[in-house]
Amino acid sequence: MKSIFNRKKKETAPPPSSSSGGRRLSNVALSAVSEGEMAELNKALKGVFDKYAEKKGITVDGLTAMCKECSLVEGKLTEAEVSLAFAKVKLKKSTTLNFDRFQEVCRALASTKGVTYQNIIQLATGQDVNTDLESTDHFDVDPALMMSRQKKRLTVEDFDLLKVLGKGGFGKVMLVKLKTDPEGELLAMKSLRKAALIKRKQLEHTETERKIAQTIHHPFLVNLRYAFQTVDKLYLVLDYMGGGEIFFWLQKQRRFSKNRVRLYMAQMTLALEALHKKDIVYRDLKSENTLLDLKGNLRLTDFGLAKENVKATKGAATFCGTPEYLAPEVLRNEGHGKGVDWWAMGTLCYEMIHGLPPFYDQNMQKMYQKVLEEKLVWKGPLATDEHEDTREILSGLLHRKQDQRLGCGSEAADEIKAHRFFASLDFEKVLNKEYEPEFVPPIAHEGDVSNFDKEFTNQRAMDSVVTTNLDAKEIEQTKFEGFTFTDKGGNMGE
Ligand code: ADE
Repeated sequence: MKSIFNRKKKETAPPPSSSSGGRRLSNVALSAVSEGEMAELNKALKGVFDKYAEKKGITVDGLTAMCKECSLVEGKLTEAEVSLAFAKVKLKKSTTLNFDRFQEVCRALASTKGVTYQNIIQLATGQDVNTDLESTDHFDVDPALMMSRQKKRLTVEDFDLLKVLGKGGFGKVMLVKLKTDPEGELLAMKSLRKAALIKRKQLEHTETERKIAQTIHHPFLVNLRYAFQTVDKLYLVLDYMGGGEIFFWLQKQRRFSKNRVRLYMAQMTLALEALHKKDIVYRDLKSENTLLDLKGNLRLTDFGLAKENVKATKGAATFCGTPEYLAPEVLRNEGHGKGVDWWAMGTLCYEMIHGLPPFYDQNMQKMYQKVLEEKLVWKGPLATDEHEDTREILSGLLHRKQDQRLGCGSEAADEIKAHRFFASLDFEKVLNKEYEPEFVPPIAHEGDVSNFDKEFTNQRAMDSVVTTNLDAKEIEQTKFEGFTFTDKGGNMGE
């Protein structure tokens, strides 16, 4: 008999969709900006320069401090790259940069990572820059990127498709690399079939996913690097997380040590806190959406179910999520808020230590019943003395009344961070990734995909042809404003 520990991947229950709002969204990574906007950007950058410049100009330490504070180091750049960018534009033996040189460094940093100058400024200033598709940005310095921007926007043709990493109802995720940058970093490309999204009423959620992934940059969230579309498909190009899913490792190793779980929990707390501070509820925390990088640090991915503008504890109403992780207030359909993420985090913590979620049952109706009524019991390692503080934090996170749940009070995530379960960790150091993860995912060489399911990695990596034709209305309906739009031949379709 198959063990109940060998569970299948958990499907997210899609919420019903409503009509999309009319706000024009800012464009994705490789977009152009008008001269007026560039002046605005440079003004914003001058503010950053003034903040980090000491007397005569900015030093490499000042630049690194700025990059760290803006998550540029942890999110996109290594310190070595920051110093290198500084060195590239240093005047003679000068150890400080004036504003012009500082601008150049920022451009160099942008091109290092294949993002635009405005992305770097956006990160540094936290501002949302609206871009103008008609005009050109004079500031990008990478000639290869300039070529791909001026002639045509990025398409799937611009990437080498290396491996299949995963597949779902809407499309697949592939390991890719930009053809213009063969020595560059590996990326993950998620392609989604519009016909499937229409069928399951998921168009709006894909747009929410792009918007959130594009605007929020955080060391523990998977960042969006590029987005584009054809008539039939949407493409999201994301940070590649070569360590695979927590789901994969739970299947393989069944349980994790307390130390390991503590660091994952701390990283998740910071990621969820960052979303909650922007009034975004994630709503899909589960082991499949929790990915590891090659050092063993975690990032959350897939914002398809996330909900914006949730301020109150009952600010969202839609029944959605993944059965195992659904909070009682979602099952009771009584309105929910940020607390659903803390409930799901408690559930995942329990699962990582014991091997199964707290109210697990193969029969979904029974599982729902248990979530609503069954006493929380401590199984496996959770029953031992070592886990006294784990039991306490779990009792707080898995409190059925959302207003009494840990993280749901006026102190929000700070209440969780202050719990004695985390006493051995300094959250500032967690944010800066100063703790070495206990588990480092093994890889034999760059591009080794053995941390992903062979069911997918054995398949041929290709951009499959879509056979369902959309009608004219559907084509119009699925022309996502915020994505760049190209026809099948790669020409601009707008
Ligand atoms: N699966 C889904 N998203 C992924 C990513 N960003 N990296 C690796 N595998 C993934």
